[in-house]
Amino acid sequence: MSVHISAAPGEIAKTVLMPGDPLRAKYIAENFLENARQVNTVRNIFYYTGTYKGKQITVGASGMGCPSIGIYSFELFTEYEVDCIIRVGTCGAYTEKLKLFDLINVNLACSESTYAENAWGYKKDRMKYRGPAYDVINETAKELSINLICGPVHSSDVFYRAESSKPAIVKKHKCLAAEMEAFALFANARYTKKSAATLLTVSDIIPTHEKISSEEREKALLPMMQLALASSAKL
Ligand code: HPA
Repeated sequence: MSVHISAAPGEIAKTVLMPGDPLRAKYIAENFLENARQVNTVRNIFYYTGTYKGKQITVGASGMGCPSIGIYSFELFTEYEVDCIIRVGTCGAYTEKLKLFDLINVNLACSESTYAENAWGYKKDRMKYRGPAYDVINETAKELSINLICGPVHSSDVFYRAESSKPAIVKKHKCLAAEMEAFALFANARYTKKSAATLLTVSDIIPTHEKISSEEREKALLPMMQLALASSAKL
């Protein structure tokens, strides 16, 4: 039992799949895991533990933004002996070269966030994926013939902004898309010497305002979930 997660020791698997939205965690648990059991409801941040192809997997939410994923991923890594967290989220593409439903395996999370410096003294504006999950995801995508793009993203602290031009950090690191959590997840994995990866489905194209409709969202997330689960089974 930690401050923000009420699961008992042993109720969380070594590998955790982490969407932002608690109801997406519930959907994944109910549709993809066997014998899933709810192990956390504190603040309605739902966690479920079940099995996938015989392997124990936990799926649970991060909430939105670096502060929120910073809390959950740290408690999972340090108080539940979690080895690997795979974030499964959505992102907004900065470029029309990306299309709706494209899938990104994040190799670098770039951010103006002070999270990594304030938490761990890392004076960096970018954090890399950690451990074997990133490579396992790439191999698994090939095996499943899932088209996967590897590249840098912007872990933004803001969703709404006055300026419509690309933020400086996006130009500096040639970020493909915006999301809000990978930077803190990778920083925590580095500090705790654990493993972390981030898979993102493009849910909107920022320059054209195209969006996946709410009816399409569940279907849109299928290839990402299949890839994350198949990869988790090998970790
Ligand atoms: N910005 C930040 N996070 C996001 C976006 C976005 O445009 N789309 C999905 N997650």
